[in-house]
Amino acid sequence: MHKLNSVGILGTGAYVPEKVLTNQDLEKMVDTTDEWIVTRTGIRERRISGADEASSDLAFHASQRALEKAGIAPEDLDLIVIATVTPDMTFPSTANILQDKLGAKKAAAFDLAAACSGFLYGIATASQFIQNGLYRYALVIGVECLSKIVDWKDRNTCVLFGDGAGAAVLGPVEEGYGFLSFDLGSDGKGGELLKLPAGGSRLPATVDTIASGLHYISMSGGDVFKFAVRAMGNSAEAALEKAGMTKKDIDFMVPHQANIRIIDAAVKRLGLPKEKVIVNIDRYGNMSAASIPVALDEAVNKGSIRYGDNLVLVGFGGGLTWGATVLKWSLKEKE
Ligand code: ACO
Repeated sequence: MHKLNSVGILGTGAYVPEKVLTNQDLEKMVDTTDEWIVTRTGIRERRISGADEASSDLAFHASQRALEKAGIAPEDLDLIVIATVTPDMTFPSTANILQDKLGAKKAAAFDLAAACSGFLYGIATASQFIQNGLYRYALVIGVECLSKIVDWKDRNTCVLFGDGAGAAVLGPVEEGYGFLSFDLGSDGKGGELLKLPAGGSRLPATVDTIASGLHYISMSGGDVFKFAVRAMGNSAEAALEKAGMTKKDIDFMVPHQANIRIIDAAVKRLGLPKEKVIVNIDRYGNMSAASIPVALDEAVNKGSIRYGDNLVLVGFGGGLTWGATVLKWSLKEKE
């Protein structure tokens, strides 16, 4: 068997729409309060895409930033993977639309749907191609325009979500660095807990499905909450074990940002000190597949994450799905 390449992140980038929707704005739209939202979720504001902004537009800006950081030209990309549950349209894939916008002529491109775990599924998938030598550079993006599939009259869901995009350029790195392990899992039995019922082949879009609000996110919040705490803890532990590490080896954890109480409970279960956990939910809400890469990009830009640090990225989402990776950061700080 030939030797496998070590694969890591060569550059990250993020983009969120300009429009900020605060809890105070939501107080005027539904029967809620800033106090309820902050204490129950930790969210203070979120970003909302414009009427003429779609996922590929957000992805484009995030990708440009990641490519620039990585020093890779779009023409050098071999693969583009977009993780999203809010594609521009059913087909062509949002990855194909982005490929054209970027001018990434030689890249294979496809979308992948694993809800909030999508970015982790995306990097696990794309990294295999580089590890085995088939491809050299891949662009993985988590992007969502959840504001377009949320019922703005439903206080149970509309306060939770936001729009954004995070991107990472993947490529070969120094041996022993980059992705050290992946843990992915799913439980289709729990699919009912979190879904968008209509608009697919089961319930195609009709006047009736629209009148019944079946094109909006439907969620059983309490059940998802319980699953999430368990899944985040278990998946992070499984990825650490596969990497031959324990929680003591972790420098930073970048969790999916769905609810600060979920993050706190998972962190407590893992016994991690809070300062090792990257949190930005207060400013963006739950951006599904975009949450982890946006949080990662912010931490990298702040200079928190340094060469040689061990990171755990961990998430959960509709499907149900979950995933985690242990990553030894391979980028050296610029002098
Ligand atoms: N403002 C005020 N009251 C509210 C609001 C609101 N925005 N939303 C719900 N309430 C009310 C409910 O109606 C309920 O009232 P009732 O007791 O009179 O019926 C009360 O608050 C308590 O509701 P709970 O559901 O018990 O509240 P909980 O503490 O569980 O928090 C939440 C709800 C925030 C949804 C939580 O369960 C959660 O975060 N769940 C996980 C969600 C998640 O991670 N989703 C991932 C989706 S991502 C994807 O894959 C697209």
